[in-house]
Amino acid sequence: MSKKFYITTPIYYPSAAPHIGHLYTTVACDAIARFKRMQGYDVMFLTGTDEHGQKIEQKAKEAGVTPKEYVDKIAGKFQKLWKYVNISYDRFIRTTDDYHEQSIKRIYEKLLEKGYLYKSEYKGKYCTPCESFWTESQLDPEGKCPECHREVKEATEEGYFFKLSAFSDKLEELLTNTDFVQPEWRAKELINNFIKPGLEDVCVTRTSFKWGISIPFDEKHIAYVWIDALSNYITALGYENDRYDDMKDFWPADVHMVAKDIMRFHALIWPAMLMALDLPLPKKLSVHGFINFNGVKMSKSIGNVVDPFILGERYGVDSIRYHILREMPFGSDSDYSNEIMINRINYDLANDFGNLVSRTVAMVDKYFGGTLPTDRQEEELDKELIGIAEALTPSVAKHIDETKLSVALTEIMAVVSRANKYIDETTPWILAKDEANRARLATVLYNLLETIRICTVLLTPFMPTVMPKALEQIGADENCTAYETLEKFGALPADVTVKKGEVLFPRLDVDTEIEFLNSVVAPNGGKKEIVEDEDLDKAGIISIDEFAKVKLRTAEVVACEKVKKSNKLLKLQLDDGRGGRQVVSGIAKWYKPEDLVGKKIVFVANLAPAKLCGEESQGMILACDCGEEVRVLFMDGDVPNGSVVR
Ligand code: ME8
Repeated sequence: MSKKFYITTPIYYPSAAPHIGHLYTTVACDAIARFKRMQGYDVMFLTGTDEHGQKIEQKAKEAGVTPKEYVDKIAGKFQKLWKYVNISYDRFIRTTDDYHEQSIKRIYEKLLEKGYLYKSEYKGKYCTPCESFWTESQLDPEGKCPECHREVKEATEEGYFFKLSAFSDKLEELLTNTDFVQPEWRAKELINNFIKPGLEDVCVTRTSFKWGISIPFDEKHIAYVWIDALSNYITALGYENDRYDDMKDFWPADVHMVAKDIMRFHALIWPAMLMALDLPLPKKLSVHGFINFNGVKMSKSIGNVVDPFILGERYGVDSIRYHILREMPFGSDSDYSNEIMINRINYDLANDFGNLVSRTVAMVDKYFGGTLPTDRQEEELDKELIGIAEALTPSVAKHIDETKLSVALTEIMAVVSRANKYIDETTPWILAKDEANRARLATVLYNLLETIRICTVLLTPFMPTVMPKALEQIGADENCTAYETLEKFGALPADVTVKKGEVLFPRLDVDTEIEFLNSVVAPNGGKKEIVEDEDLDKAGIISIDEFAKVKLRTAEVVACEKVKKSNKLLKLQLDDGRGGRQVVSGIAKWYKPEDLVGKKIVFVANLAPAKLCGEESQGMILACDCGEEVRVLFMDGDVPNGSVVR
């Protein structure tokens, strides 16, 4: 029997213009789903749209159409986007689908039968855009919604309550003693913010609007949108409906992936519902951060959205997929920036990967007419490249299982860089000058082709359009792309024939592209309005936007040594969650290298690089002057490397 793997995205609110923020979760799940299929799993990849609730009812009214007409019209926008960016979902659920509605009614009946629903009256603060009730203590400091910071209103209604409080101990146990929530520090956040203060029962029906699924035992009540939405993960498999019969194969889910804003629903209400229904719990809730634009969450209401269709048209869908997955460190926020995207495409894809393929293929073509001879001459130098290329696959697979996609990509690209360095070390153009080096030259080129093969197959789930073209260029047919062939050199035939092809990732002119992007992406430049304040005119005072220009991030010092020829400078190697960097700091008088290794620090990430005593410094770590002494700022607690500090 084949191994099963079930992965889900959130179901999205139908929105007229899905943006790069929406794209992240779905592209990440797609890369994982494709990787798992490559590993031989029978995959169920679910996504969909969340179509009920007061917000939709209101929007439909404003548009002068029925809610169903409204959702029918715009739910398709997501399907169009997913098709455009090559999302390989297996099932698409709409919460207005009949079978889902049938299941939701049964779920309410079951919860009632099992004694987990009771009727009462709800008084609370309600945020209409978020469709969430909040307690007084959960509101933000201005008494507004803690999620969207808009006004909340006092609301009272008769409703059925789900006994969430009855699951408090079990949820604490789940969050404390298992790795259900990842990253793990998010679980602590949930315990401290929600479980420790005391979990309250949740009102799970509404009477204040009509657009939703009515409750079978009391029809004026409509299912709370979160019960309706969360249940999609099982109704789409056929739970309590006649449409599908896949619960036995695919439940419990292997991964639910969500952003941090909807973590609490998935980590508290959802497991409690499943426990109440006597169903097994999903294996993992993978929580990622937000894609921000100039430090603010990308969202339509703020107006700082980036349109994936515009980017895809200009740079190719694979470059966009690569960029967002490479840039987002697991669990933390990442900042979208036009500059970073263009540089990423240029450095990683055009220079490193694209060049490696085109140079190698061109050399096989030039020196051997496109087909390698089979004589070989190995040298000691080859072993390192072969070693890291053969070790890559299990390591990438582990990162995929931990949903650390940016780390997986960093590792693959490190092998690509190593292969480029191998070209410089082996100097094939010099070998080619002497016929006596023929076997050596063929060996070097074969090693390069094999390294490219392994990296390219591993990159295919991330960039499914361009990678098959790269495989074609290096002469890899389906026999050399199977997952089983990736841990060993030798799958390409010794007399492989390459095929020169189109440029995989054309190099971009930075100035032209930045000008173009500034004109089309985020018309307001992603900037929040600046409130004029007379103090701003005073010398030395800066606005929040000016401060936001300084990119502060966290990193871990992984190595440190004194800079030769200087008694002031230390050279630090930082793990900044983005491939690492070197920083030089004038703190040798106060710190020994071993005082710093393993410590988490804060550094300025966007400082122009400088050379100090011949050593490149890419940024500056933060420290404070205390009279005669200097003390470095260390982070409190275990924060992920690369987290934004503000
Ligand atoms: O919350 N950065 O739907 P939704 C990263 N229907 N991810 C982002 C993002 C950003 N700037 N903006 C949106 C809902 N997302 C509910 C979910 S699930 C049972 C019900 C992503 O349309 C992110 O995954 O508001 C977030 O969790 C999801 O869109 C929610 O989208």
